[in-house]
Amino acid sequence: MIEPCILLIFGATGNLVEHKLLPALYGLEAAGRLHPATRVIGVGRRPWSDQAWRERVDAALSERRVCEGPVLQRLLERLHFVTGDLERAEDFERLAERLRVLPEAPDNLLSYLAIAPEFHAGVAARLAAAGLASRAGGWSRLVVEKPFGLDLEGARLLERRLREAFPGEEIYRIDHYLGKSTVQNVLVFRFANLLLEPLWNRNYIDHVQISHAESQGIGARAGFYDGVGALRDMIQSHLLQLLTLVAMEPPASLDADALRDEKVKVLRSIRPIAREAVHAHALRAQYGAGRVGDTTVSGYRDEPGVAAESTTETYAALKLYIDNWRWRNVPFFLRTGKRMASGESLIAIRFKHPPQQLFQHTAIERLRPNWLLLGIQPHECMRIELQVKRPGLELRTQTERLDASSCGLPPDHIDAYEALILDAISGDRTHFLRADEVEWAWRVIDPVLKRWAVERDFIHTYAAGSWGPPEASRLFDRDDQDWRNALAG
Ligand code: BG6
Repeated sequence: MIEPCILLIFGATGNLVEHKLLPALYGLEAAGRLHPATRVIGVGRRPWSDQAWRERVDAALSERRVCEGPVLQRLLERLHFVTGDLERAEDFERLAERLRVLPEAPDNLLSYLAIAPEFHAGVAARLAAAGLASRAGGWSRLVVEKPFGLDLEGARLLERRLREAFPGEEIYRIDHYLGKSTVQNVLVFRFANLLLEPLWNRNYIDHVQISHAESQGIGARAGFYDGVGALRDMIQSHLLQLLTLVAMEPPASLDADALRDEKVKVLRSIRPIAREAVHAHALRAQYGAGRVGDTTVSGYRDEPGVAAESTTETYAALKLYIDNWRWRNVPFFLRTGKRMASGESLIAIRFKHPPQQLFQHTAIERLRPNWLLLGIQPHECMRIELQVKRPGLELRTQTERLDASSCGLPPDHIDAYEALILDAISGDRTHFLRADEVEWAWRVIDPVLKRWAVERDFIHTYAAGSWGPPEASRLFDRDDQDWRNALAG
């Protein structure tokens, strides 16, 4: 059984807690993975009693998923609420006092910052000042949600301030993609199979695409999103992490540092984008009105809370090169967008054509390349596309798919947050980011951010429900390359 702890959640009434953390806690409760003594304390500005928060959580969870009464009841009984302002030191003193008098409270403390990035450093400092950065008889850990700062400088400053408050080894920087079992499967797929390793390099791979599309818009998150944009929100963290898993060398072991050493090597090898090359390497766009499925939806600038003149990108695409022995000159295309045609995350690896065009004098007009597809969500999937002869007298080809996947599994069989909360309680940092990983990821996108920051008068648009702006194809160097939108083709 996992150790008991107090899980202290800052931002308890926010979107992340409602949509991700509470369902994850429910999942852990249902699976019997929480120690009976574990307590969850929500901190927020609302003047709520424990009972009032329990009622909200009850309603929020019941609305989002089918809950079993006894499981939900057990979870609700663990919950407490403390009213507090993130910027008032005296509220942290009261919080510390509340922890002291909480009956049978565990010694271990996991403080989870599910709050806007500008509050991260201040809350860490105030926790330390209230004596909560260490615990007699137990540990005190800090979980920090991305984005870690808003640029390279901001990230460095944040890191310094977090370390003034907490020991470095007690800071857990969360990227929830690393908790997804499909993402962890990329490692298994690469390093538990020898078959593809000889092909996994510049000699055979034409290019790699890593894309995350969402059909949803920004919903009620304008306050956060409008100052952040897609490049920081998705590419700096989740998609660059996926890139490291695809591109890394086999680590010496699966221990947290061996793995993260290899990921950092990849990030350090990414060719810096020169200021004058930003347009050739990056493209941003914003969704306009359109249709998603049967629903007509409004454009980004008409979303509640978004400034009418906003040029924040809801779509970003990037072309990167990794200057090392394995990958030199193989482009990696990263792309993300909100309000796209469908919600799908996919790693698509395109192989080169065979060296000799043996079939050029046959009925085969254009030989299609081999693809290796790793579906991240909604369906876990591993698929290789091969060319075979089409039945019949003429020599024509058709694409066949080899499926080494669990395509049929329900998409939400393990939630990333469940896995990561358990890891943080157990002190396993393998799937959390190290400070240098965060820093090198910022270095990759910083030149783009800087250039975009001074070019605020124009942004491409794309219709909601489409696959993004047509201009995004210009990142490709050749006519036979284009975005691979979905598993199906
Ligand atoms: C979050 C971003 O980190 O990841 C969101 O802030 C995004 O904008 C989300 O929607 C995507 O996560 P998932 O797990 O739904 O793919």
